[in-house]
Formats: sequence, structure tokens, C-alpha cells
Amino acid sequence: MNPEQITRLRRGFALLAADADGFARRFYDELFRIAPDARGLFTVDMALQRTKFVTMMASLVDMLDSASQSDVAARELGERHVGYGVRESDYDAVGTALLICLRHRLGEEWDESMETAWATFYGELAEAMIDGAEQA
Ligand code: HEM
Repeated sequence: MNPEQITRLRRGFALLAADADGFARRFYDELFRIAPDARGLFTVDMALQRTKFVTMMASLVDMLDSASQSDVAARELGERHVGYGVRESDYDAVGTALLICLRHRLGEEWDESMETAWATFYGELAEAMIDGAEQA
């Protein structure tokens, strides 16, 4: 990601932080609407999962200044996801759900530069997670 994209992404994420649980709730609602079968992969309490998801997103957004640090974190996350039964084909639905949810939550802040920033972020994250999964 380039520095402008990182700034734009962080601006968006800061706005979500005002209601982080609402963001995560909407994200999982979208995911299970698009990919109902993904629901069965989650065995934990979803309130706890929402907290873990938002905390991880915050760490990944924080780490963006260091490509090596964020790459290692993403690869390790992808490696752990193999154990949760996640397959490469599941990543598209998560990316779609994330962008739909972000567009909804960010309202007037959602524009082309915000969309590019988030699509690039998720594309790079998913690629590194899938790489990590393949090494697992
Ligand atoms: C934006 C990319 C993603 C992020 C930030 C993320 C984040 C997380 C986090 C923080 C956990 C908690 C456990 C851990 O840290 O290892 C987790 C668990 C999990 N994630 Fe993800 N994840 C992502 C992508 C996906 C994808 C593509 C799927 C596929 C549907 C998925 C399904 C799951 C499942 C099934 C669990 C385990 C829940 C359980 O313990 O029952 N995640 N995820």
C-alpha cells in the first residue's frame, strides 16, 4: 500500500472505532448472507469473535508502516485459519462482505480513494494469509 492509501484507510478505521462492535456485527451479517455455509465454521461465541476480529484488524492497520511486520502477522493468521477449516475459496466472500459493510458504515466518507485503500489492504492481507496457509 502507498502512504496515501494507508492514511485513507486509517481515517476510515478511526471512524469505525466509534462503534467497533457494530462494524463487526454488520461484517458477519454480510458474510453469512453471502456465504451461509461459512456460519458453520464458527464454533465460538460470536460476541467474543467480533472482539477478536476488531482487535486483529486494529493491529494489522497499526502495522502497515512496516511491511515485514504486517506480512509476518498476516501469514501467521492465515496459518491458524487452516485449523479453523478455512479454505482459499472462502477469502473472496470475506473480502466482498468487508467492502459492503465498510461502504454501509462509512456513509459519506466512502469514495473511490477509500474503496481503493480498503480493496488494496484486503487484497494484500488475503494474499499473505493464503501464503501462510499454504506453508502450514
Ligand atoms: C480480514 C481477514 C481476517 C481477519 C482479520 C480474521 C481474524 C480472525 C481472528 C482474530 C480470529 C481469532 C483466532 C486467531 O487469532 O487465530 C479468527 C478466527 C476465525 N476466523 Fe478469521 N479472519 C480473517 C479471515 C477469515 C476468513 C477468510 C474466514 C473464512 C470464513 C475466517 C473464518 C474464521 C474462523 C472460522 C475462525 C475460528 C472461529 C472459532 O474459533 O470457532 N476468517 N479470525
